[in-house]
Amino acid sequence: MQDKLDKAAGIDGKRLWDKLMRLAEIGATGRGGLNRQALTPDDNEAHRVLVTWARALGLSCFIDDIGNLFVRRKGVRDDAPPVMFGSHLDTQPTGGKFDGIYGVLAGFETLQTFEEAGLETERPIELAVWANEEGSRFLPGCMGSACYAEPDKLDEWLAITDIEGTTVKEAVARYQTDLSDVERRPLGGPVAAFIEAHIEQGPILETTGNTVGVVTGIQGARDFRVRVLGEEAHAGTTPRGRRKDALRAAGAIAQALYASMDDADDQVRFTIGEFIVSPNSASVVPGRVDFTIDFRNSDQEILRRLGDQIESICTNHAGPCRVEVKQIRWREPATFSPQVPDLIGQAAERLGLAHMLIPSGASHDAVNLQKICPTGMIFVPCEGGLSHNEAENAKPEDLAAGTRVMAQVVYQLAIA
Ligand code: HGY
Ligand code: MN
Ligand code: MN
Repeated sequence: MQDKLDKAAGIDGKRLWDKLMRLAEIGATGRGGLNRQALTPDDNEAHRVLVTWARALGLSCFIDDIGNLFVRRKGVRDDAPPVMFGSHLDTQPTGGKFDGIYGVLAGFETLQTFEEAGLETERPIELAVWANEEGSRFLPGCMGSACYAEPDKLDEWLAITDIEGTTVKEAVARYQTDLSDVERRPLGGPVAAFIEAHIEQGPILETTGNTVGVVTGIQGARDFRVRVLGEEAHAGTTPRGRRKDALRAAGAIAQALYASMDDADDQVRFTIGEFIVSPNSASVVPGRVDFTIDFRNSDQEILRRLGDQIESICTNHAGPCRVEVKQIRWREPATFSPQVPDLIGQAAERLGLAHMLIPSGASHDAVNLQKICPTGMIFVPCEGGLSHNEAENAKPEDLAAGTRVMAQVVYQLAIA
């Protein structure tokens, strides 16, 4: 068995790094980062490149009705539920080269290593590229994996629109046209286990000198969209007493929300990331403001208590304006069952890699897969813990180490 595990861990770190740099060219911002948002031509192009690489290895590819991509390697018992691994290729508008992309390419490197080593597995193994993990174009994120885990919600997701009014349905149709030569398969299906490798997107591994994070779970999140409705008016002629200034109201609402979320021990994560003023013209009193709320915590009770106050805070600070508050999603905190995390810790130990248990502050597709199968995540350090930033960076040796761990865990699960 050890010789097989050694073969599984025989990944090629330089080949992995070169692929990362190749995908970093698609949607590059010119400032070291990426703007490759979900289901855009650039995102589709990145999927296309992966299909080309997969076919060069003789592997089969599939896409589904929400824009997920799968690369499959046969198993001896090919009708058994697959061991799945992967992440996402879409990025934030000022994203980095590694968020999501590392997990996809660590998975691809695993497939290639198994192929070249002639490693046979009982189960088929599948790399998953989940659609729209970031949620920057279409809110909420982790859409592709959510749809895989709960296929009956497909129509709900397809109806969601981006800021231009394009629906997910239209964007997926474009994706399927761009990848029309890739076989379609139905949404969902049984999975034996799922593993996701990802940069930590925080400073803990780097500051504690650990190479591998054995992720214990993912904090919960509540996403809202808020619309403040006032009245457009002339900036020069309209007295203050007659104004229904949506920006003034939205500013008061935002300040009140921040104050309500400023917990003493700094564990609440509250973000207003998108803030759109209409008509956004210098001499017009804003008639409308749309903004998002991204509220996260590891305690379901805090999510409930503070989250349930949001609507009344908005209403109470709206002044002469109206306000509409819509909750987009409430995802409970998730704890991974021990089976896969234990294998990750044992593999790190076996490979002589400093490792620790770590919770995830960031959301990941693993949070949806853990609803349907044993799931685990492998974190590796990123420079300064920086992510969702064009300067995001990681060390080739850390990325390779995390990939070795994943390859061994995939192998162990796939021969079972
Ligand atoms: O927002 C998140 O946590 C993920 O990086 N999309
Ligand atoms: Mn990610
Ligand atoms: Mn991200």
